Amino acid sequence: MVAEGKCLARHDNMVVFVGGVAPGDVVDLRVTRKKKSFMEAEAINFHAYSDVRVQPFCEHFGTCGGCKWQHIGYDTQLFYKQKQVQDNLERIGKVALPPFDPILGSAKDRFYRNKLEFTFSNYGWLTNEQIKSGEEHERRALGFHMPGRFDKILDIQNCYLQPEPSNSIRLAVRDYARANNLVFFDKLRMTGWLRNLIIRTANTGELMVIVQVYYDDQEAITGIMDHLATTFPEITSLHYIVNGKGNETFHDLPVICYKGLPYIHEEMEGIRFRVGPKSFYQTNADQAYELYKLTREFAGLTGNELVYDLYTGAGTIANFVARQCREVIGIEYVPSAIEDAKINSQINDITNTTFYAGDMKDILSDELIERHGRPDVVITDPPRAGMDEKVVAKLLQVHANRIVYVSCNPATQARDLELLSEKYDVTRVQPVDMFPQTHHVENIVLLTAK
Ligand SMILES: C[S@@+](CC[C@H](N)C(=O)[O-])C[C@H]1O[C@@H](n2cnc3c(N)ncnc32)[C@H](O)[C@@H]1O
Repeated sequence: MVAEGKCLARHDNMVVFVGGVAPGDVVDLRVTRKKKSFMEAEAINFHAYSDVRVQPFCEHFGTCGGCKWQHIGYDTQLFYKQKQVQDNLERIGKVALPPFDPILGSAKDRFYRNKLEFTFSNYGWLTNEQIKSGEEHERRALGFHMPGRFDKILDIQNCYLQPEPSNSIRLAVRDYARANNLVFFDKLRMTGWLRNLIIRTANTGELMVIVQVYYDDQEAITGIMDHLATTFPEITSLHYIVNGKGNETFHDLPVICYKGLPYIHEEMEGIRFRVGPKSFYQTNADQAYELYKLTREFAGLTGNELVYDLYTGAGTIANFVARQCREVIGIEYVPSAIEDAKINSQINDITNTTFYAGDMKDILSDELIERHGRPDVVITDPPRAGMDEKVVAKLLQVHANRIVYVSCNPATQARDLELLSEKYDVTRVQPVDMFPQTHHVENIVLLTAK
């Protein structure tokens, strides 16, 4: 098992990457891509199945791109995630490493997400069996994009990612739309009305639903909104968006609150986080709490520290650690996330945080460090690309006692660790699984100043 959840085979000294199989499967392969140093292939015939295989629990497994590792038992998934971190840190990082802590699995390996986004299509994907049956099939679909296809949507009957009432809401919206002849979107022709549906559940029990439509039709909007409000009185935050753009992003569009409050709340240790339609919040909230507890433990806070929380998003880590340290400075690219971060401090009476919006390499400047002081601890949680070289150079210059590096990509983390090794030792490594049934893995590393 190697990067991106693919398996590796060898043929005539050539490396072959294969998706959809498990380590130990004996298969015939058809080559789908050939390069100088490697090939990609798909399995077309199985001679023997691996012992690590289990029966996938979802009817959509193999078609839907969502949970690609369902054919591998959860303990085996964790084994390979740990190995992925270990391999990356050893091979790319080339730094001295302490023994790793065993990966922290997610208590929930199903129904762990608090947000799902479904797309409407008037031309849903048909499986091979459906095509072979020769029967007429309903093509108006509400579900997920087929892997790698922007225009093909798989109608989802049942999804194991988000707790109820997520499935019930999606099915109710789809059935209402079909029964009332509301026109599902046609992505190729850019025609139709219903575009997408977003459902956000929260650990406080609050529930947000957002429907995106292509153009303003108040009668149809009232119909679908009222249907949702009466069928699901538990919705606490109901919205719609009129989006006439070429894509479904809505960060630049007004979101109309039809019923309830314009936000929901997540909660951790009594701290409430306000989550609006445009806010980012970790999608596996229970496991995010575990991740943050470990991050705080690695930070070794005693109450006196100045902490910089880099790539703070909506300030979740910053607010989470604020009561255990003297002051936190949070920095993040997206201005609306910084607005959320400030609100989250305010509503929790947290007064020792300051947030800045902008590109890390510009904001983390000598001037900022002069204004707030040299941090005792830096927490950094960059995007998949890792940290910009300039940011790494600044961290070396600043030389905080400890850096807690949280990463969703062990390859770029390993690269950055090597750069930081000039002045830091890696003293703890703790992989964490935030996304069961996928190959994704999160990793926390503690760096201690030499
Ligand atoms: C992995 S997320 C961090 C999430 C946050 N720590 C949390 O737990 O909710 C990475 C964040 O980095 C931000 N980001 C990406 N590139 C950036 C840059 N060049 N400067 C500042 N922030 C950036 C993204 O907007 C995103 O919020």
